[in-house]
Amino acid sequence: MATSTPRAKLENKVAIVTGGARGIGECIVRLLTKHGAKVVIADIRDDLGKLILQDLGTEFVSFVHCDVTCESDIENVVNTTITRHGKLDIMVNNAGIIDEPKLSILDNNKSDFERVISVNLTGVFLGTKHAARVMIPKCNGSIITIASVASITGGITSHAYTSSKHGVVGLTKNAAAELGRSQIRVNCISPYVIPTAVTHKFFSIDDSSSVHSNLTGKSLEAQDIANATLFLASDESGFISGHNLVIDGGYSVLNPVFGLFSMNKVES
Ligand SMILES: NC(=O)c1ccc[n+]([C@@H]2O[C@H](COP(=O)([O-])OP(=O)(O)OC[C@H]3O[C@@H](n4cnc5c(N)ncnc54)[C@H](O)[C@@H]3O)[C@@H](O)[C@H]2O)c1
Repeated sequence: MATSTPRAKLENKVAIVTGGARGIGECIVRLLTKHGAKVVIADIRDDLGKLILQDLGTEFVSFVHCDVTCESDIENVVNTTITRHGKLDIMVNNAGIIDEPKLSILDNNKSDFERVISVNLTGVFLGTKHAARVMIPKCNGSIITIASVASITGGITSHAYTSSKHGVVGLTKNAAAELGRSQIRVNCISPYVIPTAVTHKFFSIDDSSSVHSNLTGKSLEAQDIANATLFLASDESGFISGHNLVIDGGYSVLNPVFGLFSMNKVES
């Protein structure tokens, strides 16, 4: 029986992935290139970016040094992408940071708060703005922001991080409302906890930790987020805009303390 190779979903598409040098961003870069996209990594970690280029080759992947908090850096990575590839179809605002876990708001500094907002929210605003600048004339594009389950739930992470992630959901809805007339789709993805450099430190977990979810025995992986990004980047999601795709195994819709299916009520 003849076997057919699955069709590349992003053939002839061009993407930028901010924070693509490691973690979830790196996984997104690898999946988008596997599906035929030309991908530009925009990150402050030149050393890690170069390692990915060595591995994947320079035909499909390139690296541009970019601090997402700096408008001229974002402008430069978008302009470089247009010079190199002639267009931008997909913008993935993935770069993000988290501050130290502090249990009292009284110990939270204004400077730490503003640093997180600057990368996680202002950086997404700048990425969305400059992607839109080149997408509007083409009447085409998909802008995807990696938010967090902290975009819809309180009490999981710091005040700054939770505020920044709630903020990007609002920005996503507003940008979708404006850019729909130019056929540009704007969405975000909200992952639960994945063991990466960000969460190792904050939650004191390591790669082998199994993080609780409603799906017994399963843990979220960066690949799950990359798969969702591929879907929102591709034509398969052509009528989806202004959406916050929560990927949390059901965590945010259940109350484990009080309910018919609480663990202590399940017979073994
Ligand atoms: N890991 C998780 O469990 C988790 C869960 C929910 C949401 N997220 C979100 O996913 C995204 C990626 O997180 P991760 O866990 O892969 O983190 P990570 O620290 O492993 O990777 C983040 C990347 O962003 C880059 N970066 C940081 N500041 C930057 C800046 N100013 N300009 C450009 N690049 C910058 C880093 O160099 C790094 O390559 C973040 O937005 C994070 O908030 C992560």
